[in-house]
Amino acid sequence: MGLTCMLGDITNVKADAIVNAANTSLLGGGGVDGAIHRAAGPELLEECRALHGCRTGEAKITKGYRLLAHYVIHTPGPIWHGGNQNEADLLKNSYYNSLQLAEQYQCKTVAFPSISTGVYRYPLGLAAPIAVNTITEFLKTSHYVQDVIMVCFDSVTKQAYEDAMMV
Ligand code: APR
Repeated sequence: MGLTCMLGDITNVKADAIVNAANTSLLGGGGVDGAIHRAAGPELLEECRALHGCRTGEAKITKGYRLLAHYVIHTPGPIWHGGNQNEADLLKNSYYNSLQLAEQYQCKTVAFPSISTGVYRYPLGLAAPIAVNTITEFLKTSHYVQDVIMVCFDSVTKQAYEDAMMV
């Protein structure tokens, strides 16, 4: 299938790995981070505590516990500060490093939320092309990762990714 996008709640998606738009503490929060921790149960936070945080743009993997997904890949995306603090590269790194981990763990299907475009205020119109281009490039050479789903929580976000996929 390659890269597709859907409207939905990522905690209900049956993928080998779902990606969490985390923060650098990896100790949970609001938004999709909060939803994933609620759905996975308390063991997820226990495992995250042992990871001792994660730098922006990097990624760490845990089990999925009560989620349908086998794994959760946690990546802190960049906070938007106007675009002059390396935000674009950091966002690209979040997608790329998450996919690298999925490949390393032999995942076939990976589901992403729209990283950084909520609380972190990354403009959707700038983030979507970065996500789509990074994922598309990765899929050209990946061996295990075959299908990536952008799981959009609202129709405006879904439209932005569909537009970026049309280019
Ligand atoms: N499924 C899919 N997408 C979701 C869900 C969900 N259940 N809940 C929220 N989203 C969407 C948001 O609507 C937004 O499009 O995920 C996208 C990312 O928004 P945030 O969750 O706010 O993530 P981000 O902008 O990366 O900010 C991360 O927010 O929740 C805290 O702990 C988190 O500090 C970190 C920060």
